[in-house]
Amino acid sequence: MTPSGARASSILFLTGAGVSADSGIPTFRGAGGLWEGRRVEEVATPRAWRADPALVWRFYQERRAALRRHEPNAAHRAICNFERRASVAGHAVRLVTQNVDDLHERAGSRPLHMHGELARLRCEACARIVLDLEHVDPERFVPCSACGAARLRPDVVWFGELPYFLDEIERELDTCTVLVSIGTSGIVHPAAGFLAMARASGARTIVNSLDEPENLAAEDDFRPGRAIDVVPALLDELARELGC
Ligand code: APR
Repeated sequence: MTPSGARASSILFLTGAGVSADSGIPTFRGAGGLWEGRRVEEVATPRAWRADPALVWRFYQERRAALRRHEPNAAHRAICNFERRASVAGHAVRLVTQNVDDLHERAGSRPLHMHGELARLRCEACARIVLDLEHVDPERFVPCSACGAARLRPDVVWFGELPYFLDEIERELDTCTVLVSIGTSGIVHPAAGFLAMARASGARTIVNSLDEPENLAAEDDFRPGRAIDVVPALLDELARELGC
């Protein structure tokens, strides 16, 4: 129950590259996407890292260096604002993102980064993790200051690796009453299966994206358009419905 005596809701957000597109960060698929004209196997797999670490490092260093040139947009801010309002009113809110940028954090949220974070580097030898956006030279590896290994890797989840926080996310999917999916094409699993899991738990499902995602179903409440145009009004509407 909420303080006002209404039934408490549990709202789960899932965001993808589309939420950061309006901040100028390219999405992965489609025209102008990061994967256009590039094979993901060349830069986003453990095998690529073993075969050509300099190429993979350059790709991620360029993206790490670019982070500071992008700012959170109205959709990131609306999500954070909603989280605060809903929490104060007694509802549970959780934000899961597939994005490796830090725009949710810089808008004030604390997301679960299921695909890791560009801001973090990890040592494959000793498992040490460091927060580092200082060393972004594309031609220089960063050694591990703990064990002396020659190079840290980006702490991002590559194809063929297990995403982070899956147990926690599964619990959220089991119990959420509303799932709001924003800016994801619904192609990459396991995140692409979250809508179906939430539906199966009886949750209401709301979807914003520019193009219709692959995993959209007739029962989803689809709100097409740019996240900066759609999300603030959508979350105001949801907040009103939840009495917050
Ligand atoms: N507002 C809302 N949605 C948008 C916008 C926008 N301004 N611009 C693009 N989109 C939508 C597209 O219509 C598409 O549905 O965002 C989605 C982006 O899809 P992808 O590029 O496939 O990104 P995402 O779903 O996050 O990719 C999932 O794939 O390569 C991996 O690890 C990578 O986390 C990533 C995962």
